Amino acid sequence: SGDGSKEKEKTLAIIKPDGLAGNHTNKIKEIILDSGFSISREMIVQLDEDSVKRFYVEHSSKSFFPSLLKYMASGPVLIMVLEKESAVADWRAMIGPTDARKAKITHPYSIRAMCGLDLQQNCVHGSDSPDSAARETSFFFKESSSGQTFNSCFS
Ligand code: TYD
Ligand code: MG
Repeated sequence: SGDGSKEKEKTLAIIKPDGLAGNHTNKIKEIILDSGFSISREMIVQLDEDSVKRFYVEHSSKSFFPSLLKYMASGPVLIMVLEKESAVADWRAMIGPTDARKAKITHPYSIRAMCGLDLQQNCVHGSDSPDSAARETSFFFKESSSGQTFNSCFS
């Protein structure tokens, strides 16, 4: 109701290497801002495989893990903290299903459908729960200060 009484929630969004390489960044940021999110932190980084390994540790036993590491370290990514009420669930709904190829059929207006390529190269990441969001935002950004845990290679 605009009285500021509703708690804002944070979630972590990443525009993955295929998203940056495909020049989808401006369009995705426009969709984010038009949907009522604020972007409270952002940085462009080139991740190394060790950082990706720690970020995606829950998937370390999966057969796709080695390929995922190579892909996420294949080029720069844009990492953002998005804030609004129900940010976690709303961002997940906006990005759509994991497999961008299937998303094009079942969720054609989702970001992965519009910008992703396939199951691996699916353009964007979104935290899957408030607990994941807390872990993932603090993985990349210090909680309080305006300092960053590591700096963009382009800034
Ligand atoms: P997952 O957490 O299951 O998907 P989401 O990103 O929708 O939360 O998987 C993490 C990433 O791993 C996913 O975005 C793309 C990649 N991935 C594959 O490459 N192959 C797969 O079979 C799966 C399930 C995921
Ligand atoms: Mg996930």
